[in-house]
Amino acid sequence: MEHRLEIETMGKIKVVGPQKAYGEITISGSKNSALPILAATLLTDEEIILHNIPNLADVNTMIEILENAGKKVSWEESSLIIKAHSNINSVLPYGPVRRMRASFNVLGPLTIRNGYAKVALPGGCSIGVRPVNFHLEGLKKLGIESKIEHGFTHSKYTRTPEKVHVSLPFPSVGATEHLITTAVLLENTETIITNCAQEPEIVDLCNFLISMGARIEGHGTSNIKIYGVEKLYGTEYKIIPDRIEAGTYAILGAVLGEKIILNNVIEDHIFSLLDIFEKMGVNYKMEKNTLTIEGISRLELSPVDVETATFPGFPTDLQPQLMALLSLIPGRSSITENVFKTRFNHVDELNRMGAKIFVEGNTAIITGVTKLSGAPLEATDLRASAALLIASLIADGETIINNVDHIFRGYEKLFEKLEKMNLKIEYSE
Ligand code: EPZ
Repeated sequence: MEHRLEIETMGKIKVVGPQKAYGEITISGSKNSALPILAATLLTDEEIILHNIPNLADVNTMIEILENAGKKVSWEESSLIIKAHSNINSVLPYGPVRRMRASFNVLGPLTIRNGYAKVALPGGCSIGVRPVNFHLEGLKKLGIESKIEHGFTHSKYTRTPEKVHVSLPFPSVGATEHLITTAVLLENTETIITNCAQEPEIVDLCNFLISMGARIEGHGTSNIKIYGVEKLYGTEYKIIPDRIEAGTYAILGAVLGEKIILNNVIEDHIFSLLDIFEKMGVNYKMEKNTLTIEGISRLELSPVDVETATFPGFPTDLQPQLMALLSLIPGRSSITENVFKTRFNHVDELNRMGAKIFVEGNTAIITGVTKLSGAPLEATDLRASAALLIASLIADGETIINNVDHIFRGYEKLFEKLEKMNLKIEYSE
């Protein structure tokens, strides 16, 4: 099976709507768990086996980075076997890190392993400015000094503090993961991180690190304590399912109706979405790890006012997809984006299809319309691509989504899964 997905030229998707969805699929492993866990494998030279890893462009970018750092990585179905190939190399090429922000989290582990590191500064992306100041300020408290030169972060491990307290100005997912993955190998250092992120992916990362021998308490709460150890060991670990993939298909089901069944879904990870479904009157059933969405006419659904927030609040990564649904619900809905305040690139594209959405500050006001019509669209990022795909499947007529390859960064086996739900789309380079 070909695993490497390179995104050179941006492809496009052609969709003719409206279509109905009915069928059953299984949700893949979580992208946003796999990436920080893969970065953390740099903390040991022993063999690590990871299960339920999604075959995504971003995962392959992280594998490329690990191989540059001296790892040997091989796939077996949806498992990865990671071994030390040579001494850890902590000077990484510019390209892959620049390409994917999550890879910045290798900086701390590499600096601890080698005493220094040189890693590209990650770029922003179309969902908003994405500085790394919380990361660098926290690493500094852990004894790692950094300076930015020629687009690279040069870091040096200068001292081993005994006790460290980092209070994050905002519960950043990336900064929380980066600081935990660094503090675990600071022997005899006690680190407390307050106001940290509580996302399920943070808990998954900590459970993985604990299986390597790390000592961590409080993961899943806003205060995490880490007792640094001298050495971490090889392990075998299965990552959690992707709650954002599950939420995306659940919203698709609510828009396209009939009946879809999603297996491998953890209810606690998506209850903020189920809460919204309750308020709207979406007909869903959650049994064990299976979510069933049975369509009812959208005219019977109610508008809602939603705010995005850090977990356990409603995730910003489902905001564009929910907006596609709300654009077809009679009445006035609103979505306030509190995590990436300018994350509204999908609005103009949905309006191009006949939606009625306008943005005031960081709130989108949505007046429901009875139908959308197909149009030529531009996708700008991963979740916006998913939202435009959902809208194009319900719209009248033909839609072309250009620049759509972003979608392969976060949705594994997309065509296969859509086919299993009797949905037809055409992809071309
Ligand atoms: C993670 O990004 C996810 N990515 C994002 O998912 C997700 O949107 C985001 O968390 C929020 O849930 C991965 O897990 C790989 P943050 P991250 O640090 O860690 C500000 C997707 O579609 N901030 O929690 O980069 C920042 O600008 C992706 O799968 C600083 O100001 O997000 C933002 O406003 C997109 N300084 C807020 O915090 C910092 O040093 C939250 O960002 C760090 C963050």
